[in-house]
Amino acid sequence: MEAMPETPERKRFFLTTPIFYVNDAPHIGHAYTEVAADVLARWHRQAGDDTWFLTGTDEHGQKILRTATANGVAPKEWADRLVESAWKPLLGTIDISNDDFIRTTDERHETGVAKFLQKLYDDGHVYAGEFEALYCVGCEEFKPKSEIVDGEGAFAGEKVCLIHSKPLELLQEKNYFFKMSAFQDRLLALYEERPDFVQPASARNEVVAFVQQGLEDLSISRTSFDWGIPIPWDHSHVTYVWFDALLNYVTATGYGADEEQFARRWPGNHIVGKDILRFHAVIWPAMLMAAGLEVPEHVFAHGWLLVGGEKMSKSKLTGIAPNEITDTFGSDAFRYYFMRAISFGHDGSFSWEDLSARYQAELANGFGNLASRVLAMNKKYFGAVMPEAGAEEEADRAIRELASVVTAAADAAIERFAIHEAIAEVWRLVDALNGYVQEQQPWALAKDPAQQGRLATVLATATEGLRALAELLHPVTPLATAKLWEALGAEGALGRLEDQPIREAGRWGRLPAGTPQQALAVLFPRIEAQAEAEAASK
Ligand code: ME8
Ligand code: MG
Repeated sequence: MEAMPETPERKRFFLTTPIFYVNDAPHIGHAYTEVAADVLARWHRQAGDDTWFLTGTDEHGQKILRTATANGVAPKEWADRLVESAWKPLLGTIDISNDDFIRTTDERHETGVAKFLQKLYDDGHVYAGEFEALYCVGCEEFKPKSEIVDGEGAFAGEKVCLIHSKPLELLQEKNYFFKMSAFQDRLLALYEERPDFVQPASARNEVVAFVQQGLEDLSISRTSFDWGIPIPWDHSHVTYVWFDALLNYVTATGYGADEEQFARRWPGNHIVGKDILRFHAVIWPAMLMAAGLEVPEHVFAHGWLLVGGEKMSKSKLTGIAPNEITDTFGSDAFRYYFMRAISFGHDGSFSWEDLSARYQAELANGFGNLASRVLAMNKKYFGAVMPEAGAEEEADRAIRELASVVTAAADAAIERFAIHEAIAEVWRLVDALNGYVQEQQPWALAKDPAQQGRLATVLATATEGLRALAELLHPVTPLATAKLWEALGAEGALGRLEDQPIREAGRWGRLPAGTPQQALAVLFPRIEAQAEAEAASK
């Protein structure tokens, strides 16, 4: 195994997903967020960065309480059931490599939230007040005017939530308030000084415009129900579910309990859907500022998976379960498709036709076929070992240089959270290698004894290309690349695939000549038309 280059200070990378509500089972929208975060985490981990990837579940509040009650069970029992039967299994279905899973009912979380609240109270950031406003239980939020609209159909005459299209509830309570308005100027300064704090740019603009309109104080407690974390100085109130939930990012990394761990991990990078951008880019940094903690490194808001032009959602029953796709196409194809087909940061529509077309053209014919052809020729002409490259010609040099160029470009794209661009960069190498094999025609070289040296160089170049692809695509398609790594016999020579320094994937000559190769399992098997039709009609 090659030694990692000496780096006195490893880069730190703490990445999070939203913690999801356990009112229902996950759909492909939640899986989409998980996969995006997982690709980023795997890339950084493979690059040698000190990576920590956190996900989890949001279990308090009215939405969960009402669902549990409707199902005749206590809220904690409901949450346990959903976490074990649906949310944790999702991570296996799509191969998520999270380092931690936090539940807001964890003791570590409840203790941390109480500590944080007490500090804000002691430091004068909280006051008792009273108000009346329209609340959306779907959003778990008092709605701003811009998101209150007139209902239609069954809800005509009522005010409904723009996102959930369900009636809002007029709530009037005595609450504790967080003096969020006091942080308006500091927040605007933050967006100004760190233009990439909120990404993409469209999300940043939206947040800036929202805060410029003026910030109000935030109600952070409720008294009409008790499914939540008690306010430490007044147990007749429970903590507002969003105030509780946002804190998971620090309670999971040692806030108030393990200062060493906290210093090592925080601040984090948050991947969220654009539906919850404001919570992460406005409320959360204001909370952190009040507590004297660092704000996040980045908040990246991705787009929505749409069904019929609308956000796919649990509450509108338009969700597709992730395993409806993975059962037919496998988890690698799920991961690849959503990361490749949708520009990260924009909305996208899922379609079975598009998935199936890309599976066939890009994964099976593009990548899978390349790997199987090259390995088959190594077997046929060189007895299944890595051939020894001879003098480099122009075409070989072009491949070698492209590998280095796309590695750097993909890494730069990942730094900008542009996952689709990173994959497109790597795919330039897939396409170039296919073209190279087609042009060099190793099968023709093999017929001419005088061209044995050239044949070895061509296949060595193509095989080195496969080695680079296995490393570069491991974060996206972990299962197929592991099969390829095994077939290349690379583990013996270079060590485990997940330990390969991804930022050096483009460096040539890493796989030694003579390395014995194994038979390659089919990376992307043909999907029978029958199975496809069944999947699409589900
Ligand atoms: O908001 N397209 O949880 P939630 C893309 N508990 N992503 C989607 C999606 C879609 N159609 N539908 C859902 C909550 N998502 C809070 C979060 S964080 C401190 C608390 C994904 O279960 C996307 O990431 O409603 C979105 O932001 C999230 O699920 C909302 O999940
Ligand atoms: Mg939601």
